[in-house]
Amino acid sequence: MAKRALDVRQAHRLLSPGPVTLLSSQYHGQPNLMAVAWAAPVSLDPPLVGVAIQPTRLTHEFVAKSDQFALNVPHIELLAAVHRCGLVSGRDGDKFEATGLTPALAAEIDPPLVEECLGHLECGVVERVRLGDHDFFIGQVLALAAEEEAFDDAWKADEEGGRTLHHLGANLYASLAKGYRA
Ligand SMILES: Cc1cc2nc3c(=O)[nH]c(=O)nc-3n(C[C@H](O)[C@H](O)[C@H](O)COP(=O)(O)O)c2cc1C
Repeated sequence: MAKRALDVRQAHRLLSPGPVTLLSSQYHGQPNLMAVAWAAPVSLDPPLVGVAIQPTRLTHEFVAKSDQFALNVPHIELLAAVHRCGLVSGRDGDKFEATGLTPALAAEIDPPLVEECLGHLECGVVERVRLGDHDFFIGQVLALAAEEEAFDDAWKADEEGGRTLHHLGANLYASLAKGYRA
């Protein structure tokens, strides 16, 4: 895939309109992946994104201990792998191996990126807020990249529809059917 490095101030564009993401984390050299639907941009300058992670997740432990994570934006074709990363815990095995996804070197952080994904937000944790039964980790975007064919200032939704994957709940997902210009 031909990915282009982007200005980190465009990070919010990679999280519009709310695609499901694969969060990669790493602790003591052990990588992990988790499906994340609750991620959102929270500031343009500095570029900050927030992600709600339940404390029971192995991901919670890894992100809390390493203060780093990446949000990887999957192509719709990765649906099965994404769903699996949302059903099983890294405590029960390596999810890169289980899904066949490829770890790739990140530019600014230790956790690997997911090579097959369309875009990557590399983040360093700047704050953690306890909100109900989830913790909201706020990450500063340190590096940003997106697949040129799929992203041009925003995710493309052309005649073929969009390429990002959106979570509706339980085992239901959707893609973007069509884009409109106002
Ligand atoms: C599509 C989808 C989205 C999810 N979004 C979140 C989320 O935003 N926050 C969260 O804490 N768990 C979320 N989950 C659940 C975790 O991905 C799941 O519990 C996972 O097995 C945790 O893995 P871990 O223990 O390796 O961290 C989601 C699950 C699915 C299927």
